[in-house]
Amino acid sequence: MAREQFGICAEPSLHGYYLLFNALDDKNSFIRQALSRLPALLDDYADQYSEANLSGVIAIGANYWDEFCPEGKPKHLAPFPAITCDDRIAPASSYDLYIEIRSDRADVNYIVSDKVCQLLGDSVELVEQVHGFRYLDGRDLTGFVDGTENPKGFHRREIALINQQDDNNFAGGSYLHIQRYRHNLNLWNAIEQDSQEEIFGRTKFENIEFDDDKKLPTAHTKRANLKDEDGNIIEILRQSMPYGEMKMQGLFFVSYCNTPKNFELILRSMIFGDDDGNYDHLLEFTQAETGAAFFAPSLNFLAGLALT
Ligand code: HEM
Repeated sequence: MAREQFGICAEPSLHGYYLLFNALDDKNSFIRQALSRLPALLDDYADQYSEANLSGVIAIGANYWDEFCPEGKPKHLAPFPAITCDDRIAPASSYDLYIEIRSDRADVNYIVSDKVCQLLGDSVELVEQVHGFRYLDGRDLTGFVDGTENPKGFHRREIALINQQDDNNFAGGSYLHIQRYRHNLNLWNAIEQDSQEEIFGRTKFENIEFDDDKKLPTAHTKRANLKDEDGNIIEILRQSMPYGEMKMQGLFFVSYCNTPKNFELILRSMIFGDDDGNYDHLLEFTQAETGAAFFAPSLNFLAGLALT
């Protein structure tokens, strides 16, 4: 049975480092060797700093997969679904590798990220790094708790991980989408709390969901809560974290799922809205500046990279 990378379903942590790389020409075989060694490196640091709850995820870009791994591809791996509608934009960025390092210690994340960069050496270019942090009791910088309706317990695995029946060769893996959203907090903080609550469809401090008949069709939780034709909820596992400093801040959005379809359906519902054009009004206060699709393979798959 293939084992998943532990960071995929890990519970929220206090700090996160998100490293986005592009591979340099003719370095594929070096990168395969390096990636095959990364899980053991993470295990060593997790042992050394056992109280830090260190976890990590290594993922390969959808656009890089064929070059990196010509032997075979996860069934549904596809480029990031870039979307534009009026001034609502979900752009696609070009990244080959994604490495997520999370723990409850910023210094441990730094140490491990530094080691990761050393291991990859000059085979890659570090294109973007985002330092995420837990804000208050798990809130986004808008002040609203983020992650409440995430799948819980064993259900996290059911939603995030591919099972053997779905795709035997890639069981234990996960489809990953990321977007770095930049918030306009001056605009957000200028509106009344009632309006902010209507935008999320939840109360701010107590984090209580509005009754369905009180939710506006433009509320984020209305646009993001979708059902399929059989009435099943279309779920993803969100592992997002706030990031930023005084000049620029927002949410580093992270979604894991056993199919890439769910993220795209929710994103389309947010940006295009319903048949009456009710799009997600949260998008008036935040904008995606990046977006990319990856596949986070199982530990077994990563170990196998050393042999090829
Ligand atoms: C800056 C961007 C975003 C912010 C600040 C944000 C924040 C939030 C907050 C505060 C909630 C309510 C609490 C919870 O259940 O977690 C929520 C719910 C949710 N969000 Fe987002 N979100 C963002 C973008 C997205 C995107 C891009 C997606 C997927 C494409 C998404 C999917 C969801 C889902 C599925 C829920 C649960 C809805 C429900 O069942 O009630 N969010 N989000």
